[in-house]
Amino acid sequence: MKRRIYYFTGTGNSMRAARVIAQKLGDTEIISMRTDPADSPASDCEMVGFIFPVYHWTMPAPAVSFVERLDISPTAYVFVIAMPSLICGIACEKLAEILAGKGIRVNYGDLVHNVANYAIVYPPFPPAKLMVPQAEKKLQKIADDIIAKKEQPYPRAGKFIKWRRDRVMGPYLELQKYADNPFTISQDCISCGLCSRVCPCRNIILQDGRPVFQHHCANCMACVVSCPKRAIGYEITGEDKTLLNASDAKTPIVKLMGLPKNRKLYRNPYISANDLTKDKEQW
Ligand SMILES: Cc1cc2nc3c(=O)[nH]c(=O)nc-3n(C[C@H](O)[C@H](O)[C@H](O)COP(=O)(O)O)c2cc1C
Ligand code: SF4
Ligand code: SF4
Repeated sequence: MKRRIYYFTGTGNSMRAARVIAQKLGDTEIISMRTDPADSPASDCEMVGFIFPVYHWTMPAPAVSFVERLDISPTAYVFVIAMPSLICGIACEKLAEILAGKGIRVNYGDLVHNVANYAIVYPPFPPAKLMVPQAEKKLQKIADDIIAKKEQPYPRAGKFIKWRRDRVMGPYLELQKYADNPFTISQDCISCGLCSRVCPCRNIILQDGRPVFQHHCANCMACVVSCPKRAIGYEITGEDKTLLNASDAKTPIVKLMGLPKNRKLYRNPYISANDLTKDKEQW
């Protein structure tokens, strides 16, 4: 029987978590949620883990779609680790709900706070120097718990977050439809294709050497932080502004969106751009 961890990542925090836990467990495969779940079902696994960032107080949409299509053994020990910066919201509950629909129970859940990475909205915070060592320490503890097959309830959103979620996050989720419209590619682009290879949503194709966005973007920031020439920008203008008007009225996020040339970017220090191109690893 196999052990497997499925992860979704933009800037490497979740991939790093999957690696740390897999290495400590030993003999464990880690698989990116950008793969087809039918290619690596968990129907023959004795242990199955899910690790992902939190987007807009919930689980990233591509991770939802992956887990919905995944076959899992009903006898597996199942764990979930969410990687928020501040607010986990219903991220773990969402996973538990999908699995409950398949008759699967989550045995263990926890969250690990890390650097907030939404580069087109704000610079990274709190400092990586502070957050990454804390996250590494917590991952070791979580790995020990999982080795011991500990039972631990997954984190749940408080009443306030549940009450405000639709109102506060609704407009942000609405924006996701247009999330990649404002991306720009500058003359510095060398057509290396790395942005396309790191994208966990397979949302970028190269046409005549130019990256073209396919409108199923999760705004994960992998392409932005991986471009060796910093050729990817984000600018809301003209037509985009019209598209975003509806959300503009309900949330200040549109006014904050953009990518100044000098903005500091964050990628987990243990994860390279090349690592982000990988689909599977055995530890
Ligand atoms: C589109 C987007 C939405 C986000 N929303 C939240 C959120 O609601 N709560 C939170 O704590 N962090 C939020 N974050 C921060 C990420 O969850 C956090 O930086 C995470 O550790 C990144 O993981 P990764 O490196 O595996 O991509 C958001 C980041 C992005 C890009
Ligand atoms: S990673 Fe940067 S340089 Fe390479 S193709 Fe993409 S935009 Fe161009
Ligand atoms: S296009 Fe860029 S931001 Fe959008 S999902 Fe792909 S890598 Fe992430």
